[in-house]
Amino acid sequence: MVANRLPVDLVVSPDGTRTWKQSPGGLVTALEPMLRSREGAWVGWPGVPDTDVEPLENDGLLLHPVRLAADEVADYYEGFSNATLWPLYHDVVERPVYDRNWWNAYVRINERFADEVAKIAAPGACVWVQDYQLQLVPAMLRELRPDLRIGFFLHIPFPPTELFMQLPWRTQIVQGLLGADLVGFHTPGGVRNFRWLTARLAGAQSTSGGRGEVRYGGRTITVGAFPISIDSGSLDRLSRSRAVRERAAQIRAELGSPKRVVLGVDRLDYTKGINQRLVAFHELLTAGRISAEDTVMIQLATPSRERVEHYQRLRADIEQTVGRINGEFARVGYPPVHYLHRSLPRDELAAFFVAADVMLVTPLRDGMNLVAKEYVACRNDLSGALVLSEFTGAAIELKESFLVNPHDVDGLGNTLFEALTVDSEDGRRRMRALRRQVLTHDVDRWARSFLSTLGMPDATAGENHDGGQSAARAGHN
Ligand code: ADP
Ligand code: G6P
Repeated sequence: MVANRLPVDLVVSPDGTRTWKQSPGGLVTALEPMLRSREGAWVGWPGVPDTDVEPLENDGLLLHPVRLAADEVADYYEGFSNATLWPLYHDVVERPVYDRNWWNAYVRINERFADEVAKIAAPGACVWVQDYQLQLVPAMLRELRPDLRIGFFLHIPFPPTELFMQLPWRTQIVQGLLGADLVGFHTPGGVRNFRWLTARLAGAQSTSGGRGEVRYGGRTITVGAFPISIDSGSLDRLSRSRAVRERAAQIRAELGSPKRVVLGVDRLDYTKGINQRLVAFHELLTAGRISAEDTVMIQLATPSRERVEHYQRLRADIEQTVGRINGEFARVGYPPVHYLHRSLPRDELAAFFVAADVMLVTPLRDGMNLVAKEYVACRNDLSGALVLSEFTGAAIELKESFLVNPHDVDGLGNTLFEALTVDSEDGRRRMRALRRQVLTHDVDRWARSFLSTLGMPDATAGENHDGGQSAARAGHN
């Protein structure tokens, strides 16, 4: 596995002691349990600049750290990855910055990752490259090690062709990806956009092969849609544990036992539509359609990319909106919005999912959105309602949610109100259908589908042999 980040981040305390904590984001949530069960090796950055870390074993996973200097973090990670590609690939909801120095750093660091993999991969090994930070690695690695099977998966949306064409280095990126044997996206839309660009920018020829193949440089590259998922069975079990149930009840009591709890859980990112959902909540309070005594909102926000300017502005905006709502509607000791700017442990997060009557997932654009699936996995009793943006990959699969256009503030408010007041029969019908989808399409199934398409001989290793019991359970209630 090759990803910008290792699944764990190094934490160096002031006295020099080193510990590891789980890295943020959906990529790690999805891939970490899957790779552990397959005893793989992971090449990535340990999350702190200017630090040498020797290869190590962490709970059954071999970690191969790649060193990044502080200026490389600024140019390759904060710059090209997160101030050029991230906004460009998310429908330019913020304006991408095109900077030649950042691009040069991106090329250099992609080379470093490719070199590291070339050194450690066994002959004929299967190498799976992840996400937008490493789009040049497939071609670089093929040049160094033509014996490898190379897969690439993009965890974020692949943009409309008109937007991608803005990128001054568009041809190099497409050629970089075409170094893989298999290129995967979350949705068929991403596949279509990429195939069109391979023809336009690299002169690749489409074949009429099953999943969609293109011919380029004398090779055949498969391009397909593989919607990612979560370890839904284990989250379902965790959410039913006594400890999590009790903690969920305690959370509601601590909130003052309101009738309804609304929840948002995100990395603090401008693509997530956090301000839009706060505004919709505010308008329902102002219009008197809900009351602050009855209905409480919790927003959990993991700190993210805090040195990038877009993110600093976003944080200030959100904190101002939360302050305004609470200033207007709080009683002493009972604010209507509870905002926690921090990351929570998995069982605590599961307790919040269990405690929430309505989950608000309102991104302006999101490749998949795992939080939506996590909420569903935690609703064993079929209560709870999911409000989900149409602009997420998850919306294609979770059709029984309350789908919403987050740009439409009235629509968002009305849909939130509808979810808060849904009658229990309709709510249970929807949640039953959502759970069937999430529990039968877990991350292991996703990985097996990708790896077997890539031609990995033991793609079913680590398979979860529950004989379809999760599926049976999903439909049982
Ligand atoms: P992204 O990958 O863009 O961050 P996803 O929704 O796909 O978005 O994945 C986010 C992951 O991070 C989920 O597994 C979610 O549970 C986790 N997460 C988000 N916010 C928090 C938080 N405050 N504490 C702990 N985990 C969080
Ligand atoms: C998203 C991206 C991942 C990234 C994660 C966290 O899930 O698709 O590639 O690792 O966000 O972002 P960060 O910049 O902290 O790695």
